[in-house]
Amino acid sequence: MTIGIDQIGMYSPHYYVDLAELAQARDVDPNKFIIGIGQSQQAVAPSAEDIVTMAAAAASEFISKVDTNKIGMVIVGTETGIDASKSAAVIVQHLLDLPENMRTYEIKQACYGGTAALMAARDYVALHPDRTVLVVASDIARYGLASGGEVTQGAGAVAMLVSAQPRILELHDDSQFISRDIADFWRPVYTDMAIAMGKYSNEQYVQFFQDVWANYKAATGHDLADFAAINFHLPYTKMGMKALRTVLPQADEATQNRLNEHYRIATTYSRRIGNIYTGSLYLGLMSLLDGASDLKAGDLLGMFSYGSGAVGEFFSMTLVDGYEKQLSPEDHEAFLDARTKLSVPAYEQMFLNKVPYSAADYSTDPAAITSRFRLTGVKDQQRKYVNQ
Ligand code: CAA
Repeated sequence: MTIGIDQIGMYSPHYYVDLAELAQARDVDPNKFIIGIGQSQQAVAPSAEDIVTMAAAAASEFISKVDTNKIGMVIVGTETGIDASKSAAVIVQHLLDLPENMRTYEIKQACYGGTAALMAARDYVALHPDRTVLVVASDIARYGLASGGEVTQGAGAVAMLVSAQPRILELHDDSQFISRDIADFWRPVYTDMAIAMGKYSNEQYVQFFQDVWANYKAATGHDLADFAAINFHLPYTKMGMKALRTVLPQADEATQNRLNEHYRIATTYSRRIGNIYTGSLYLGLMSLLDGASDLKAGDLLGMFSYGSGAVGEFFSMTLVDGYEKQLSPEDHEAFLDARTKLSVPAYEQMFLNKVPYSAADYSTDPAAITSRFRLTGVKDQQRKYVNQ
């Protein structure tokens, strides 16, 4: 029996800020943001969207096509939790009108949460091959106006249906993982803005990649030439390349060219959306599948997941015959093109208008464009959502 990704969908808010304009406003050379960091646009979430609404919107890309009675669990991976107790997953289940006969829960370990959810889903399907699991990685990356991390913000979600006999990608049971208690990036519970040790986090990301890759090679016998592409967690599009470059000399020229070109294609969506934390690795995967016309069934894809704090994991997947029939690249391109560009002052205003850390009632911006799922506000300390 094969197990893997049967369906995949994405969502990002309808607003973005242009990073050349942001650089000018911050008195920075635009080439630093566009070339040095590798980001050209950044998604901005209005107050009426949060991890719940984005998760539901990403899943709604395919949910009407699948048998929801077979879903045994909904797992949301996030590091932008909206409650320390109740999971986003149970609200997503409600908003999507899914049956009650399932488990719902949330997983946290920084940007690794999406991969943790995917692996839990695979293990569950191995025991219950007649059931499926809805995995959603949903996050809003915030560092603060004019902060060092501002250029690496973003917002969005990726949803995946994990099943037996998947129609897109078969997951292999070949993971190599490392956990080390380090302080490279974290988010205290009193704020929605992350604290990042910029340079140190970059170094740790590369170190974790080198270590899990070395372990993976030793355990499986695979080398770079076996992979059609290697996907990376993408806090910004230059980051994965910094890691890839450290191992490329191990490969022949044709392999190097192939991995470089597929890396470029895999970063297309992230370049326009920014960091979506738990979903970034899977947004890169979607960008690759949508954009690389030379991929074919049987191709092996490597996946490097990194979650600060920190956990790193390397695993692989194989493309399934007919996978392209399950994708809708034109819809994703059209969605990104149709977004509204915000001026820098309008972005700053939207950034600051958010659900406050207080017990007061709050109404979100009624004029904001959202998906059909919307956070209308907070009343009596409860978040209120609608499916419009
Ligand atoms: N033209 C072209 N390139 C330029 C340039 C110009 N005019 N000016 C600068 N650059 C280049 C620099 O040479 C540098 O390139 P290299 O990295 O290849 O050396 C690049 O632009 C960035 O410049 P700096 O290092 O000076 O950038 P910075 O000090 O402003 O910080 C950052 C960048 C560390 C990514 C910061 O934005 C940050 O802290 N972000 C949040 C933390 C983060 O994303 N860490 C990533 C690893 S942790 C992780 O992966 C988990 C997660 O999702 C957060």
